Amino acid sequence: MAVFVTRRIPAEGLRLLSQASGCRVQQWDSEEPVPRAELLAGVAGARGLLCLLSDRIDREVLDAAGACGAPAPPALPRARDGHGSARRPGLKVISTLSVGFDHLALDEIKKRGIRVGYTPDVLTDATAELSVALLLSACRRLPEAAEQVKSGGWTTWKPLWMCGYGLSDSTVGIIGLGRIGQAVARRLKPFGVRRFLYTGSSGPKPENAAEFGAEFVPLTRLAEESDFVVVTCALTPATQGLCNKDFFGRMKKTSVFVNTSRGAVVNQEDLYEALAQGRIAAAGLDVTTPEPLPTDHPLLSLRNCVILPHIGSATYATRSTMAVLAAKNLLAGLRGEPMPHELQL
Ligand code: GLV
Ligand code: GLV
Repeated sequence: MAVFVTRRIPAEGLRLLSQASGCRVQQWDSEEPVPRAELLAGVAGARGLLCLLSDRIDREVLDAAGACGAPAPPALPRARDGHGSARRPGLKVISTLSVGFDHLALDEIKKRGIRVGYTPDVLTDATAELSVALLLSACRRLPEAAEQVKSGGWTTWKPLWMCGYGLSDSTVGIIGLGRIGQAVARRLKPFGVRRFLYTGSSGPKPENAAEFGAEFVPLTRLAEESDFVVVTCALTPATQGLCNKDFFGRMKKTSVFVNTSRGAVVNQEDLYEALAQGRIAAAGLDVTTPEPLPTDHPLLSLRNCVILPHIGSATYATRSTMAVLAAKNLLAGLRGEPMPHELQL
């Protein structure tokens, strides 16, 4: 069974695939993204695809893969997959090395009867940790302060210099109190947060909120009452552009905005205006639109905006575990077995 891997990935994951019996691995063995033409050629004839969040898996790719969920005509050999439906050869499984799946055209994938694996849970701690680091960097102005040391801007200890906002006695609002949102709240609580608010498109989740006594509120109230807003929701049609001019306009002038989910949850022009005009105090972004952000982008000219290159899950251990899980998902899918983490389409 041919498998196409779209990038160099941690060795532990690739080894699992290479050593699996009957599995023939073809890989874009580079740190750089696979060129579109190579991706289209790579998926042609592949039964399995291991991809990254930066690979757009759309109708064009699926057509190139020759995937088809329709029953096979009698003349063709009939293969049965794990769900008992007969289908032609073609792409059978997509396994993404990410918890996010907004890069996958799920409607098209579902139509073609392709199964999808992803990597939740294993990156929750690393991503929550990075969210806290980014929040502290933004509210205590760490990159700006460190730069002053290097540039000679640090001349003496000054009572009014490099002041920011602390977490003690604050209100934290979390957009998307799922696995990562809860892990962020769990880490922030010991900093002396007084109150947690949350919101989300699927409504109140009392079982997620109980540990923090978090209160479910509409987005508008979350914006108005939070000292810190942390975005940890999935990007869906319901969350696209959610944090816009109205949202930032409702936030306090002293509040800090952090996003570690997907750039497109934010209207970046509206965020830029809010930061440039001092309508909010600061922002920390691990995700942007586009990625990478061009080095001449206006957001990068702001002293009150800390931007990281999408490194939420980037610990050695987490990336290795993600690669192993992605490989296991792929192999299970190819064998028609239940995947460790399958996306329900
Ligand atoms: C990271 O953003 C992921 O989706 O895993
Ligand atoms: C700070 O270093 C202080 O002594 O207050």
